[in-house]
Order: sequence, then C-alpha cells, then structure tokens
Amino acid sequence: MATRSALINVMVKAANKAARGLKRDFGELENLQVSRKGPADFVSAADLKAEKTLKEELSHARPGYGFLMEESGSQAPSDGNTRRWLVDPLDGTTNFLHGLPQFAISIALEERGEVIAGVVYDPIKDELFHAEKGGGAFLNDRRLRVSARNRLGESLIGTGAPFLGRGDSERFLGEIDAVMQNTAGIRRWGSASLDLAYVAAGRFDAFWEWGLSAWDIAGGIILVREAGGYVSEVNGKQINLDSPSILASNNNIHSDLMKLLRKPLSNQRAQ
Ligand code: IPD
Ligand code: CA
Ligand code: CA
Repeated sequence: MATRSALINVMVKAANKAARGLKRDFGELENLQVSRKGPADFVSAADLKAEKTLKEELSHARPGYGFLMEESGSQAPSDGNTRRWLVDPLDGTTNFLHGLPQFAISIALEERGEVIAGVVYDPIKDELFHAEKGGGAFLNDRRLRVSARNRLGESLIGTGAPFLGRGDSERFLGEIDAVMQNTAGIRRWGSASLDLAYVAAGRFDAFWEWGLSAWDIAGGIILVREAGGYVSEVNGKQINLDSPSILASNNNIHSDLMKLLRKPLSNQRAQ
C-alpha cells in the first residue's frame, strides 16, 4: 500500500470532513423536492458549508497559505508564503441538485503558478484521486496510468457543453460533430474535476471543455500529468490556470484530437 505524504493527508482529511456534510445533504435532497423553497437554496447552502469546512481545515493545518475558492474568492498568502489552495467545494452542482451521484470536492495546491498537489474526491462512490508532483497519481491507493489507446476510433472522449446561453454553442456543435464521427463516443458527465480524474484513470481517453475556472481544473491537471497524460489548451498552447480551454488526454491521441477540434464545422463532414 502506497504511503501518503503529510501534505496529501492534510488535503484528504479536509476533503473527508467536507464530504460527510455533502453526503448527508445529498441524502436529504429527496425530501426537499416538494418543499416550497425548493432544493436550489438548499444546494447553495450545502456548497457554502462544504467550502467553510475546507477553509477551516486547510488553514488550520497550513496557516499562511492563500486561497482561491469558488464561493468566497481569493485570499493572498501571508507570512512570506508562496502557496495557495485552489478549491471547488462541490464540482457538479447541477448533478447534485438533480439527485445525480456524480460530483466531487476538488482541492489543489499551487506554488508560484504551478500545481504541485491535487485531491479530487467523489464521496458517493468513495473514490479518492490524489497526486503530488513527481510522486505519481493514485485512486485510493492504486497507482493510476492513462489509457494506452492510440486510435481515435477506439477512444472515449469526455467533454462539457455550454449551458444557459453561456459559451460558444456554435463552436461546440462543430466540435462534437467532428468528435462524434471519428471516435467511439462522447460523455458529458457534469463534473470537470472528475472528468479529468477519469482521464488519469484511463476511463476516458481524453477530455476537452471551454470556459472552466482554475478551481475546476487545478486538481485534475496534476492527476492527468502524474498518470502520464498531457494537458494543453484546445489549440495546443501551454495550459495555465486562466486558460480559456483545456484538452487533456493520454498523450497518444492528443494531436489527432486537437486537429479534429480545430476544424471549422463546414469542413468536418467533407473528410
Ligand atoms: C461545473 C462542472 C461542469 C462544467 C461547468 C462547471 P460547478 O462546475 O465542472 O462539468 O461543465 O462548466 O462550472 O458549477 O458544478 O462547480
Ligand atoms: Ca466547478
Ligand atoms: Ca462548484
């Protein structure tokens, strides 16, 4: 059994504590579908509660580290620290709200712009994905490797679709049109951190999405890299946490998928 570092233990302890609350609240949701206030307020309260727990736990264990949290924004590091936590307390809110068991807590640690550790925890399936720079990626205590597939036609690709009128739906339609015709299938599972963890675990051969935020992708990026995969922007540029898009893959199919995604809609059917 792999031994976890002190840092990963801190992150796992925080994730476990927040997960207990989320699991309780997810179980409660069924009773709320009929309540007058409706489940949406309840879910945003669950989200905020999880974030508060994570902030308390992480700042207690590592005083002085900064934060970038989805709900409460950023807090600069103090006492000469150069590290900050990037936290999404509930990634997959829409799934949670609809009673779909596909959501996660994502915690990453960044030092001078580089992600050095990540934990993505799916409390319903009790799947804990974790990675530290140079130390490999793990699911619970099993070492992860990206898939070995090198043909697009055999590859399963995860993605995220624009919703509520946000994002460029025309571009997305062009992309899925191309990907549908050239791969074994597409999945849209609604939790970007888990989508990336699934690339690390070899369940997806690749994943792409536009318009994500640093807290959605930071934990997953290090999982993919430490599992032997490759992460860039959709156009192949070097990724950073503010990038407009992400393309993560097992490396083997990266450039073929990139070429597909870059084709304008009108050319996709002509090949
Ligand atoms: C969302 C999920 C989803 C992605 C959205 C994100 P949230 O995060 O990761 O898969 O498509 O763009 O905003 O809002 O559930 O934390
Ligand atoms: Ca998110
Ligand atoms: Ca969230």
